[in-house]
Amino acid sequence: MAATANIGVVGLAVMGSNLARNLASREGNTVAVYNRSREKTDTLIAEHPEAGFIPTYDYTEFAAALTKPRTAIIMVKAGTGTDAVINELVNVFEPGDIIVDGGNALFTDTIRREKAVRETGINFVGAGISGGEEGALHGPSIMPGGSDESWVTLGPILKSIAAVAEGEPCVTHVGHDGAGHFVKMVHNGIEYADMQLIAEAYDLIRRGTGKSPAEIADVFAEWNTGELESYLIEITAEVLRQVDGETGKPLVDVILDQAGAKGTGAWTVQTALSLGVPVSGIAEATFARSLSSHPEQRAVAAELPGPQEAFQVDDVDAFIEDVRLALFASKIVAYSQGFDEIRAGAAEYGWNIDLGAIAKIWRAGCIIRAQFLNRLSDAYAATPDLPVLMTAPYFVEVFERAQAAWRRVVVAAAQAGIPSPAFSSSLAYFDGIRADRLPAALVQGQRDFFGAHTYKRIDKPGTFHTLWSGDRTEIEAEDTH
Ligand SMILES: NC(=O)c1ccc[n+]([C@@H]2O[C@H](COP(=O)([O-])OP(=O)(O)OC[C@H]3O[C@@H](n4cnc5c(N)ncnc54)[C@H](OP(=O)(O)O)[C@@H]3O)[C@@H](O)[C@H]2O)c1
Repeated sequence: MAATANIGVVGLAVMGSNLARNLASREGNTVAVYNRSREKTDTLIAEHPEAGFIPTYDYTEFAAALTKPRTAIIMVKAGTGTDAVINELVNVFEPGDIIVDGGNALFTDTIRREKAVRETGINFVGAGISGGEEGALHGPSIMPGGSDESWVTLGPILKSIAAVAEGEPCVTHVGHDGAGHFVKMVHNGIEYADMQLIAEAYDLIRRGTGKSPAEIADVFAEWNTGELESYLIEITAEVLRQVDGETGKPLVDVILDQAGAKGTGAWTVQTALSLGVPVSGIAEATFARSLSSHPEQRAVAAELPGPQEAFQVDDVDAFIEDVRLALFASKIVAYSQGFDEIRAGAAEYGWNIDLGAIAKIWRAGCIIRAQFLNRLSDAYAATPDLPVLMTAPYFVEVFERAQAAWRRVVVAAAQAGIPSPAFSSSLAYFDGIRADRLPAALVQGQRDFFGAHTYKRIDKPGTFHTLWSGDRTEIEAEDTH
C-alpha cells in the first residue's frame, strides 16, 4: 500500500468516525482509518465516500498507509482498549512517529504510557477532546499534552480541526506527558459543577414559583442572552421545553431522577484531594449524582421529617433574578476552584501550563463553552500568576452585585428543605477563602491535644506544643504538622 495519508484514526465508533470525517474535510488531509472489527470501517467508507478515506484492515496495512512521521489518533474505549491499541501501533511504527490518545484517559495512565512509548523513540501524546460527537465532527476543543517535537507535526493538524473562537483555534499545547488529559479531567469536573448548579437553579424556580418546565425554559433562554450565555444554559432550555411523545408530559418529568457518571468528575475530586485543593463545588456536584443514584436509600430516607410549610415565593421575578445571580456567583467559584486544581497539578507534575490559554481554548467547541470564559482569559492576561481567579476585578464586581441574592437563595433553599449542595458549598467556599480568621486555629489546638501535632503562633516564629496531660505549659517542639 502506498503511503498517502498524513493522519490516521484507530477506533471508528461515534467519536472516532466523526473525528475522522472532520479531519478529512480539512484541506490537505488524507485520512487512513482502522477499527478492530471490520464492520465499522466498511460502514464509514460506504456512508462517506466524499471523505476519501483510506480503509485499512490490520495494523501493518494501517502503518503502511501513513506518510512519515506517521501520526495516528486513537479513539477507542479508554482503559485496556487504549493499551491494546498502543501495543499494536508500537510494533508497526518507527522512532519519530506519533501516537495520540484522544480518549478520556486518566492522566496518570497517560504519564505511564508516555514514558513507556518514549523508550521506543515513538512520541506519545495524550490529548483531551471535548465537545461530544457534534464537537468531534464540526470542531472540538482539544487539550494535547506530549513532547514539543510531536507538537510540531501535530499542532497544524489539530488546529485545522479544532473549534474556532474569535478567530483563534481552540487548541494549545497544554504541557508535557499527562498535562492535556489532566486539564481535560478538570474541564469535566467543572462541567459537573456547572450542570449541578443549573439543575439546582431549575429546581428552586420550579418549587418556589410553580412555573412549568416550558416556562422555566423561557427563563433559561432569556438568561442565555446575558452574562450567563453558555452551551449548558442553551441546552437546558431545550431539554426543559421537550415534551414526551408518549405521555404528553414534559420530558424532564418522565426521566428517572438518577444521574449517571463516567468517572471523570470522581477523578477530578480524587486528584484534588491528593493535591490538597478544595474543589468543593465539583465534589458536591459529583456526590449529588451519587446520592441520586441510590433509590433504595432514598426510599427509606423519604420518611425523614422536612419543613412543614409549603415553599412559595412572594415576588416571582425578584426570586428568579436572585437565583440567576446565585448561579453566576457559584459558577465563578467552580471555575476558580478548577483553575486552582490545574495550577496545583502543574506544580506537582512539573508542567508549564498557561492558564489564560486554557480559558481561551474552552471558549468554543467544548461542553463548558461560555461567554464569560473571555473574562477568565482577560483576568490571566492582566495577571498571569493570579493566585485566586475569582479575585480578578471583573469577578469581584459580580460578587458585589450578587452576594446578597446568593445568600438569600441559600437561606431560602435551606428553609424550604430544597437540596442545593452546589450553591451552598460554593458560598461556604467564598466565605471561607475570604475570611480574616478561620476556626482552623481550634482544629489545630485539638490536633495538638490528642496527637501532639504541634501548632504555630501568630505572634512569634517557631513550632509549639502544649503539655496537655502535664502542667499545660507550652514548649517549643519539632514541626510534625
Ligand atoms: N462519546 C463522547 O461524547 C466522548 C466525548 C469525549 C471523549 N470521548 C472518548 O472518546 C473515546 C471513544 O469514544 P466512543 O464513544 O466513540 O467509543 P467507545 O464506545 O468508548 O469505544 C468503542 C470503540 O473502541 C474500540 N475498542 C474497544 N476495545 C478495543 C480493543 N481492545 N482494541 C481495539 N479497539 C477497541 C471499539 O472497537 P470495536 O468496534 O471493534 O468494538 C470501538 O471502535 C473514549 O475514550 C471516550 O471516553 C467520548
